[in-house]
Order: sequence, then structure tokens, then C-alpha cells
Amino acid sequence: MLKCTLNKDGRYLTLDDGITQTRFHALWLRDNAWDASTRSADNGQRLIALRDIPASTVITSATLDGSTLTLSYSPEGKSVEYDTGWLFENAYDHEAIAQPGWIRPGVETWDGELMSNIPVADFQSVSTDPEALKIWLGQIARFGFGKLINGPIEAQALTRVVDLFGYIRETNYGRHFEVRTEVNPTNLAYTGLGLQAHTDNPYRDPVPTIQVLYCLESSAAGGENMVVDGFRVAERLRAENEEWFNVLSRYCAQFEYAGSEGVMLHTRRPMIELAPDGELIGIRFNNRSTAAITDVPFDAMETYYAAYRRMGEIIDDPAMEVSFRLEPGESFLVDNRRILHARKGYSGSGKRWLQGCYADMDSLCSKLAVLEAKHLVAAQ
Ligand code: FE2
Repeated sequence: MLKCTLNKDGRYLTLDDGITQTRFHALWLRDNAWDASTRSADNGQRLIALRDIPASTVITSATLDGSTLTLSYSPEGKSVEYDTGWLFENAYDHEAIAQPGWIRPGVETWDGELMSNIPVADFQSVSTDPEALKIWLGQIARFGFGKLINGPIEAQALTRVVDLFGYIRETNYGRHFEVRTEVNPTNLAYTGLGLQAHTDNPYRDPVPTIQVLYCLESSAAGGENMVVDGFRVAERLRAENEEWFNVLSRYCAQFEYAGSEGVMLHTRRPMIELAPDGELIGIRFNNRSTAAITDVPFDAMETYYAAYRRMGEIIDDPAMEVSFRLEPGESFLVDNRRILHARKGYSGSGKRWLQGCYADMDSLCSKLAVLEAKHLVAAQ
């Protein structure tokens, strides 16, 4: 039986379900009222600003009727109904998480053992079946990458991958870019060398949060694509040496690209990025575009370089990687805030043609949320 108690002269209330006591402040409750004069019935947007709510707001009465909680506020003299289910879903009466580098629920970090269970879907299925698309997008939100097979073998087919959930992010490289390699083992200059795993374009602000790579031709042996979970790398670094984790998250590195006419991109961001409450939200790691690091104090620079070196060693550890070969018509997508990607070296001769483009995770997560909400409505 749910009970409601007013505390501290109505400055907060406590909901008690017999097991847990959950507190809510009067100001928070008033700000989160869903009545027609506070929120638009059409689009759910808030119609008032905080300045419209008196700082002296208190709850003068609270009545529970089933799952409906009715509160009256002074000095507005206003009465508002709340659904207690919504209140419990949005409760904030918990301890702050102390461990820097915590990872949001629903995100699952991985290492090479994921190889036997790569998130993969059929291009036709995700294009025609919302349930298949929901599952594939859900895997990308959870694991940070996903592969698509049996797609069309035609130029610009990668735009149809992005059309599944969002919009291409155009950059100075264009709406898409070409990744063509011709391998001739008699001339080392044309050998397809492997690249160290990296995140793309750390010199942009904001960084592109999705990269899509789409294979159109692949006759050269080798050249597999590989991905590494940067969040797992950060977790491992922290477990090995917390000071190294802290130095890479506390101080900014710098990244730059000025490799083509009319472009001078530069950012100042940490290699391991935390939200102010310590949530791990981003990895930036790219040996080719790391500029001079000048924001680390002299006394911390040796520790910083030891941490930077170890982070690279963990990334290079084969136990961390998942690799797969892309055949024509196959593609993969990475959350570029989290997943490092690389191409392995080639052997033999042949051609490889991929097209790449950028897009963003916010629209992917929005599409996923819409599909999940429809699923919930359908299940009711
Ligand atoms: Fe790349």
C-alpha cells in the first residue's frame, strides 16, 4: 500500500511503498507538472520557464487515489495530478555514483569473445521489417557497432543504410568518401598497409558520431576490417592503473587536420571523455591526427605518455579485437564516440573499393526509441 508524507513544511514529500522510501522536492514536482498550462498537450514541450514558478513553492496538500497523486501548491494555489508510475520511473533519490568511468545501463562492453556473436542483419530485412530494424539498431546502441549483409552492389548504396535511421553528416570530405586500394605486391608503395585502430575525425567539434563503411569490390586477399571497444579499453586501463585512466580523462589532448586546401580543423579534448558525474561518454584515439599535447602540466607529462602508450597497447592487443571481412554489398556501422576501427594489411594482388560516410547517433537512438514505443503500444 503506497503512502505519501509531506516533509519539512511541504518542501518535499516521501512516497513509501512499504519497502522503499522515495523523496521528491516540491520545486522538482511543480517543474515536472504535466497539466495543460505547464506542458503543451500537442507536443509535450514545457510552456513555462522556471522564473514562472515561485522560489518559495511548497506543497500544501497531497492526496493519493490509486496511482494518482494530487498535489496543491502555495503560493500559486494550483492543484496538479501525477501518475505515481511516472514518478517512480523518474525518481532521483539515490546516491551519486562515485566511480569515474561508469557506463550507462544498456551499454555492454566487449572484447574479442564477441567474434562468435557479431551484431549482423540482412539489408532487405531491416529495410522492410521494422521489427528487424529495431533489433539491429538496438544491438548498435548496446554494442556500438553492427554489420549489414546482402545489400545492393551499387555506388552510393551506403546512403540507403543511413536512410534507415537518419541523415548523412556532410564534411569537407563530401557527403561520402572513397576508399580505393589497388594492391600490387611487386611495388611496396602500393601495398595495402594495415592501420592502427582509431576513432575517426577527432579534430571535429562535434565529432561525427557514426561512421558507415560499405564494400563495393573486394578481390584482394586480407584487408579485413576490425573493431575494438574503446569503452572496454578504458575499463581495462582503469583496472590496471587508475592513475593512468585519470590522467587521460583529466587532461585534454589536441587533434588537428590540415591535410587539404582550405581546411584547418583543430580540437582540444581528452582521449577518455567523462561527463561531469563521471559517466564514460567518449574515446578519441588517432595517432595520425594527434597534435602536440600542451595541456598536461610538466610534472604529469611522463605519466600521461605512459598512460597513452598503454592505452595503445591495449587497443593493439589481439584479444580485444573483433575482425570480419566485408564482401561486396556488405557494410558496417560504428558508434564513433566509442568504437575504434581499423583495416588489416593485404597480401596478394587485387582491388578493394569501399565507400564511407558519417551520420549521427542521436537520430539512430531516436529511431530506435520510436520503434520501441510502437512495439510497447502494439503489445498493450
Ligand atoms: Fe578511419
